[in-house]
Parts: sequence; C-alpha cells; structure tokens
Amino acid sequence: LQHLLTLDGLPRDILTAILDTAAPFTEVAEREVKKLPLLRGKSVFNLFFENSTRTRTTFEIAAKRLSADVVNLNINTSSAAKGESLLDTVDNLCAMQADMFVVRHAASGAPVLIAQHLQATGRDHIHVVNAGDGRHAHPTQGLLDMYTIRHFKKDFSQLTVAIVGDVLHSRVARSQIAALTTLGVPEVRVIGPKTLLPTEVERMGVRVFHDMHAGLRDVDVVMMLRLQNERMNGALLPTPQEYYKVWGLTAEKLALARPDAIVMHPGPMNRGVEIDSAVADGTQAVILPQVTFGIAVRMAVMSMLGSH
Ligand code: CP
Repeated sequence: LQHLLTLDGLPRDILTAILDTAAPFTEVAEREVKKLPLLRGKSVFNLFFENSTRTRTTFEIAAKRLSADVVNLNINTSSAAKGESLLDTVDNLCAMQADMFVVRHAASGAPVLIAQHLQATGRDHIHVVNAGDGRHAHPTQGLLDMYTIRHFKKDFSQLTVAIVGDVLHSRVARSQIAALTTLGVPEVRVIGPKTLLPTEVERMGVRVFHDMHAGLRDVDVVMMLRLQNERMNGALLPTPQEYYKVWGLTAEKLALARPDAIVMHPGPMNRGVEIDSAVADGTQAVILPQVTFGIAVRMAVMSMLGSH
C-alpha cells in the first residue's frame, strides 16, 4: 500500500490483510502491551480541515503506539486560515520532513489531490491516509466497521447487513458498502427515504428498502448513519421529530432484526433523531467497541504504509 484513499476497488486480500494485521494490535490498543517501534523516527501529520473527535484522536493514539512523532496541525490557527492553499500547506509540511499525512477535508478528493501532488513532485515516499473527504470516502471507518463485524459475527459469508438513514451525504456508507461487498457479505441492504439515497444506489450492489420495518427484518447487523445536516445546504427536510418517527431506531424496530443482531453507529450520534438512547446504550450496541477497534485498525493501516 502506498496510500489509503478509498476502499473502492481495494482487493479482498488487502482488506483482509489489514484486518488480520489489526488483530494483534488490539492488545497494544487496549494497553496490555507497550509501544511498538514500527514507525520510530517517522513523522505523522494530522491535517483535519473538518471537525473530528474519534478519527483524529484515534489516529494520534495509533501513531504514538507505533512510536511515531505526531504533529496535529490546528487548522483554525494555521496559515490556512489566512488563505494559504492546501498544496502550499502540504509543501511546507513536507519541508519539515513529514512521512505521512492523515487528511480530513470537506472537499471530496482533497486527499487524492495531495497524493497526486506528492507523486508529481517526486515525493512519493510520503504516504497519505484519507480520514474522511466530503461525501466520497472514509476508508478507515469502513475498515474498523468490518473489524467490528468480524469480531462479533466471525464470518462475513452468511450475513445480512442493513445500512440505515442518510446515505446520500455519507462517506461512511460508501466505504461500508465497498468493504461489505468486497468481503462477500451476501446481502447488503440500504434503508432510507428516497430523498436521502443517492441516485446511483441501485448500481451499488445493494438491496434498497424504503420501509424500515421490511428492511430490518431478520438482519444480523444494523449500521445506523448520522443525519448530516451540515451537508444539506438548506434542503427541505423532515424535522428531527418527523425523521425519528419513521427512520429512528427504537427497541421496537430493532426487535424485527435477529435477536443477536448488533447495532453500530460511526458517531457522532444524534440521539432521538436516528437512534433512541435506549438502543444506543443497550446490550446490542457495539458503538464504543467500534471506537476502540479504530485504534488497532489505524495502527494496522499506518504500519503497512510505513513499511512500504
Ligand atoms: N466516525 C467519525 O468519523 O467520527 P469523528 O467525526 O468524530 O472523527
């Protein structure tokens, strides 16, 4: 792996290799083992042009557990706030001997742009990890979700998985669908209102449901999505109360799934909008384990890139 920009088109053996590499790192992530020296002497720059709690922090923890030097650029107090371009920012950080950029940006394609720029300027020894770009992709979220499913369900080949809610604005859903289909999940369902599903959804290799009750019936995994108001540009939308009534995951709706179904959410959650607190904090929820597994999965990605 040179960069991790998307899960689209990433072969099954590489996806599986990342999950397998992450498995022993859970001991480091859970602090049973001290740091590993795999990125000693390397500098990882976290460039988060959009807010984050889970992704930014777990990338920092993961890089530190691999013994890297970590720099978190504060975008609000950086010269990007004075209008310095993305690529000028990157060039200057390269001059500080960066080895890896972890990039989150509101613009779809920003991490790809950086990777192409590095290639074009002969600095292809520097790696880029997409930490979420616009509506395009959030590959490490997709990977940690696959790790979580494999941890709790063991085998992808018998599963029915439902992705519920605002797929239209969701980079997470696109990465989840790419990973689930590549890993051989036989039935991936997408459940949501027509207004919040992309027009290309029929071509994504999923079964589409516009009825929450029909879509949730007998599923093994329920992956809820956040209603992403910040990407809706003032579109005419249901109120949070209206949305919750139809699409919110309550204990009553979850009872339609298999009794051992797990409930996932990438966070941050809108409690009382896409998910009821009783479900989010209930016995079937694996939302906080997702976060913990994110450390091991990000360690796996960075160590694999760093060894290239
Ligand atoms: N899941 C996720 O990307 O969360 P953050 O926005 O907090 O990083």
